[in-house]
Amino acid sequence: MDVIKVEGGHPITGEVTVEGAKNSALKLMAATIMAPGVTTLKNVPNISDVHVMGKVLKRLGATVEVVDKHTLRIDTSNVDKWETPYELVVQMRASTAVMGPLISRFGKAVVAMPGGCDIGARKIDMHIQGLEALGVEFEINHGNIHASTPHGIIGDTVTLAFASVGATENLMMASVYAKGTTIIDNAAREPEIVDLANMLNEMGAKIRGAGSPVIEIEGVKESLHPVTYSVVGDRIEAGTFLAIGGLVGNPVTVHGFEPIHLGLVLKKFEKMGLSVERGNHECTVWREGPIIPTDIQTLPFPGFPTDMQAQTMCLLALAKGSCVITENIFENRFMFASELQRMGADISIEGHHAIVHGVPSFSSAQVKSPDLRGGAALVMAGLVADGITTVSAIHHIDRGYENFVEKLVSLGAHAERDIVPDEEAALAD
Ligand code: EPZ
Repeated sequence: MDVIKVEGGHPITGEVTVEGAKNSALKLMAATIMAPGVTTLKNVPNISDVHVMGKVLKRLGATVEVVDKHTLRIDTSNVDKWETPYELVVQMRASTAVMGPLISRFGKAVVAMPGGCDIGARKIDMHIQGLEALGVEFEINHGNIHASTPHGIIGDTVTLAFASVGATENLMMASVYAKGTTIIDNAAREPEIVDLANMLNEMGAKIRGAGSPVIEIEGVKESLHPVTYSVVGDRIEAGTFLAIGGLVGNPVTVHGFEPIHLGLVLKKFEKMGLSVERGNHECTVWREGPIIPTDIQTLPFPGFPTDMQAQTMCLLALAKGSCVITENIFENRFMFASELQRMGADISIEGHHAIVHGVPSFSSAQVKSPDLRGGAALVMAGLVADGITTVSAIHHIDRGYENFVEKLVSLGAHAERDIVPDEEAALAD
C-alpha cells in the first residue's frame, strides 16, 4: 500500500500546469463509441480512472492506443458488445457513462448497477427515468440494468428533478440519433457538459444550449464521425492548487484551465481574504492577512462545486472564527472532516452542515484518504502542519490527480510517496 508523507513548514510557492479534466475525459472516451472509427483525444489526464475507462472500451471491442502520456487514439470500428462488466463498474461509477452511447449505437445496453461509494448512494434513477421518457425500456435483474429500445428512441422533453451531471450526459448522448428533438430541462451546466456537447457537435450531432439549463438535441440520421479533440482543463485540479496558495500565503499560479470555470470558488476565496489574479488560461492565488470565516453551500454549477468542498474546508479550519459549510450534493461527503480533526481541526457535523471553528494550526498525524478530493485536502493540510503527516489510501488521489506529489514538490513541498509493507498497512487499517 502506498502512502504520501508530507513535512509541514517548508515555503511553498511557484507555478503548476493542470491536466485535462477527469470529469470530461471519461465521458469523451465513452462518446467515441458513437463515432465508429479512430478518434484522437488530446490533453487526457494520465490517471487511474482513465485507465479503467480504457479497459471498459477494450472490453466492448475498441482499441485504445496511448500515443503519448496525454493523447489517446481510440478505434471503435469493431465495438460489437453492449455489456459493461460489474468488476469495472464497481471500480469506477463513471463507467455508466457508456450507457447512452451504447443505446445510441446498438439500441440496447447492459450496465452493472453502480454500487454506492464513500461519498454517497450514487443512484442512477434519474438516468433511467429520463431515458424511459425517450422510449428506452429497462429490466433490472441480477445487479444489471438491461436497456432496450423496441420502438427506437423518440425525442421528447425530459425535466430532471435535479441537475444531475451524469443523467444530463447520458440523456444527451442517447438523444443524438433520436426520432425528432429532445429537450433536457433543468440540465446540469458544468463546463464538462459543454466540452462533451462541443465534441459531439464536431462529430456531427446537433446539440444546442449546453451550459444552460435547457439543452436541445435534434436527432440526426447520419452516423457521427471520429474527430481529434482536446479535453478542457481540469478546474478542480486547478482549484486544489489555488487553494494551496491561499493556505500557505505565498503565490501559487496555475496554468491550463479557464478561471471562469471556477467563478464562484474564486469569489468565495476573495471573501475569505485570499487575493486572486485571473489571467488568460491561468490564475494566481495568495494571502496576506488571516483567513476570514465564510459560509459555503455546495450546489450544481455555477454554484459552489462539491468537488472543492474538502479543499475549502481545509482553509476555513484555520480561519479567524467560525462558519458553516453545507453539502447539498452528496449525502456523505464530510468524512474528510473527521480525518482533519485528527490533525487538530475543530469541526462538528450536523446532517448536511459542518460547523467549522477556526484553530491556529494543524498538528501532523497519520490520516486516511476518505475519497478523491478529501485525500488531496489531507495532503494540503500536511503542508502547514508541524511535523510529518502520513496520508494512506492514496489510490483515491491517483484516481483524479496526475503526479500530485511531483507537482507539490515543484512548489517547494517536502513530500514523497512511500510504499508501506502490506502487513504494516493491514495494522494501519
Ligand atoms: C459527477 O458525478 C462527477 N463525477 C463528480 O465528481 C461530481 O462531484 C458530481 O458530478 C457533481 O458535480 C464525474 O463526472 C465522473 P450527479 P455524478 O449525477 O454524475 C444524485 C469527483 O470528485 N443522483 O450530478 O455522479 C447523486 O447520488 C467526482 O471528481 C441521484 O440521486 O453526479 C448525487 O447525490 C465526485 N440519481 C447527486 O445526485 C441520479 O440518477 C449529484 O449527482 C443521479 C444522481
